[in-house]
Amino acid sequence: MFHPNMTTIQDNLSYIETELQTLVAHCRTQISEPLYAPMAYAFEGGGKRVRPLLVLMVADMYGKDRADFIKAALALEIYHNFTLLHDDVMDHSEMRRNRPSVPAQFGIAQAILTGDAMLSLAYKLTQEYPLALQPAIMGVFNRMSQDIMVGQQMDMDFETRSDVTLAEYERMIRKKTAVLLSAALEIGAYIADTGMRDRSYLIRAGINAGMAFQLRDDYLDVYGDEATFGKPIGGDIAENKQTWLLIKAQEIARERGEWEQLKAALAIPKEQREEKYRAVRAFYDAYGIPELIRKEIQEQSDWALDLLSRMSNSYPEASQRLVDLIQKMAMRDL
Ligand code: IPE
Ligand code: IPE
Ligand code: MG
Ligand code: MG
Ligand code: MG
Repeated sequence: MFHPNMTTIQDNLSYIETELQTLVAHCRTQISEPLYAPMAYAFEGGGKRVRPLLVLMVADMYGKDRADFIKAALALEIYHNFTLLHDDVMDHSEMRRNRPSVPAQFGIAQAILTGDAMLSLAYKLTQEYPLALQPAIMGVFNRMSQDIMVGQQMDMDFETRSDVTLAEYERMIRKKTAVLLSAALEIGAYIADTGMRDRSYLIRAGINAGMAFQLRDDYLDVYGDEATFGKPIGGDIAENKQTWLLIKAQEIARERGEWEQLKAALAIPKEQREEKYRAVRAFYDAYGIPELIRKEIQEQSDWALDLLSRMSNSYPEASQRLVDLIQKMAMRDL
């Protein structure tokens, strides 16, 4: 069935893909083959391209030419892929996007160095903006970058703790994930020259949408379908990641006097992956965690939508597309 909103999303996605492939191909002439190959591999592997899509949607919302936004959009997608290369090293993840992760395919040292090359490529793109825009764009980039490192550090620090609070978890996912999605909308707002008021709504909506997105990622890591998720189920449980599901389960286990039993399940070594997954998941099932996290995701995405409804841009159909996209992001229905 014809659906104008989806058509425009598809159209923006193919524009992103074409421009990304052109840019990546151009890189081949600038860096050596061993540095280049893992980068090309990462981008061939697909991905939902949510972040660049968000940038282009701001262009649409203000009736602007998307060609002025594409470099920033690609910079964010390249930056995101850099974080994934390093994240897969940190999380010992062997699969991503339904195939071996970059460290599994090319080795850890290569994943680190090619990740670094992608980071600098992302920054280089921001320099291609007119001088008047550069401080704003680079300011967002720098702040985002620092937040992500801090968030990733928290994520690792939490692996050896069992007393992480939901407030700490929220701080962690805000930094490691939500700021990047929010930066996409914020940079879009600067290029579109939306003014401070709308920019601030976009920034905050991006944070809430990003929180919903990471909560959903955590949920799918336990309850998802491996083929569509593209990552093996149970990775977070194996690595003792303090996800919303685990923190909530620990809270309930303590209340019910079942903490020792849950602790025993968590102590199963990660090499016994299937057994550990089944043991921990049994607590989630028994405590109704899937229902609880679904409510949390809904709440975050409702906040995002409420913020967007207060904006004053004059292209309501384009705003509706962003609303649709945020709903899809919260459901990972992309
Ligand atoms: C994965 O991001 C990392 C998280 C923030 C959960 P995406 O789910 O957007 O990854 P791709 O780019 O679509 O593969
Ligand atoms: C994503 O966290 C955050 C960053 C990559 C910065 P995850 O570790 O949950 O992402 P996936 O599940 O590996 O994609
Ligand atoms: Mg991680
Ligand atoms: Mg990971
Ligand atoms: Mg994850």
